[in-house]
Amino acid sequence: MTIASIMLAAGHGTRMKSALPKVLHPILGKSLVLHALSAVENVVDIPPVVVVGHGAEDVQTAIQAGAKHEVHFAVQEPQLGTGHAVMCARELLQGKSEQLIITFADMPLLTQASIERIIQLRQESQSVMVITTVMSEEPRGFGRVIRAEDGSVIAIVEEVDCTPEQLLVREKNTSAYCVDANWLWKSLDGLKPSSKGEYYITDLVAMAVAEGKRVSAHILEDPVEGLGINDRVDLADTERALRMRINRDWMRQGVTFIDPWSTTVGLDVSLAQDVVLQPNTMLYGNTSIGKNSVIGPNTTLIDTQVGENCHIQYSVAESAQIANHVTMGPFARLRKGAVLKDYVHIGNFGEVKDSVLGEGTKMGHFSYIGNADIGKDVNIGAGTITCNYDGKEKHHTQIGDNAFIGSDTMLVAPLKIGKNATTAAGAVVNRDVPENTLVIGVPAKPKERKD
Ligand code: UD1
Ligand code: CA
Repeated sequence: MTIASIMLAAGHGTRMKSALPKVLHPILGKSLVLHALSAVENVVDIPPVVVVGHGAEDVQTAIQAGAKHEVHFAVQEPQLGTGHAVMCARELLQGKSEQLIITFADMPLLTQASIERIIQLRQESQSVMVITTVMSEEPRGFGRVIRAEDGSVIAIVEEVDCTPEQLLVREKNTSAYCVDANWLWKSLDGLKPSSKGEYYITDLVAMAVAEGKRVSAHILEDPVEGLGINDRVDLADTERALRMRINRDWMRQGVTFIDPWSTTVGLDVSLAQDVVLQPNTMLYGNTSIGKNSVIGPNTTLIDTQVGENCHIQYSVAESAQIANHVTMGPFARLRKGAVLKDYVHIGNFGEVKDSVLGEGTKMGHFSYIGNADIGKDVNIGAGTITCNYDGKEKHHTQIGDNAFIGSDTMLVAPLKIGKNATTAAGAVVNRDVPENTLVIGVPAKPKERKD
């Protein structure tokens, strides 16, 4: 049976108290509506329809920029409730599918597996409509699911309309539906406005039952899937729940988290077996960590690839590449284009940008290396600086294998230092240094070694 989907994203989101439309608020760097789309986009036979209204243009632009597949849009103006929002998709979808999935853009943690489950349940149970629910000790704010004595679902009643008895019901409506499309398009016209003048999608349940049709409920095993975002407290709770879902997945795949509650692993990060993440570690973007590497505590890596057996602590790296057996930190910083080869060591207060540090090179303390190519087994003394910027342009520094750069050397680029060369402590080097040569002084000059 062909499947289409409608996602509601037109509401005001007043309780967010924000200039940004609610569904564009991000969790783990991705907007709520894009999270919500990922549960349906691989299930449908035709492009999902998103109903936009409040902030329509911004919402549409953000979806077009971020969605993996084609998405169509219906506009709801004015916003007269969730039932009315579905009516606005009629032109695009009536007659196009046999079943419809209806979800809300403010429910980012609902999974594709649950959507597949309600599709299956509708067929098995011969229902016109399947609703999703959660059993909750705190159903406040949600529509309550009313069942008959035999357990069958007979209505969803919005909290404002609940009798005192209905308010005690613990089963709440989480707003993901699978419906018979023909029945839906026929029945929508029968919806009556509520006391607030809104058309409620939830009223369809009682309508179906009155027609003698069956409505079934799928109780979500993981209540986290039913989290809906109305305000910023929900936003923070939901982000934490997503973080824990991701972290648990990685733990099951062989990654150790010393303190999962303080550790953030982004959606596109990949981690190898026996990686250890220490507290307060944050991994974002296209970051990957190889086998046995220990990251953290207090480390942020963005779009950075780390190899095997590395140890990185109290450090920050962005758009960097780190090979194997590298040790870094505490308090090191890699910026765009930093490449550290095997066995590099960067100690406290080292900064590297647009530079390659060759295998075994050591940079223990207080150094800045920018726009440089540094060979193997180079020693970069404390306080070394590549003076790469003359106020207008960046210049390049090249240092050969086994060179020894003395403490507090200023390397005034453009500059080439040959293999096995040495710069004395405090040298200001503004001329190229040949291989096997010691330079000393300000400005630095070659000197025969007599000692
Ligand atoms: C809705 C349900 C309630 C359920 C709860 C679960 C109704 C009447 N009530 O209530 O039973 O327990 O969700 O989270 O459906 N929207 C539109 N157009 C509108 C109104 C809303 O597109 O005119 C969209 C919003 O952008 C949002 C979603 O629908 O994504 C839900 O709207 P919201 O106002 O948050 O509904 P609830 O009051 O939470
Ligand atoms: Ca809501």
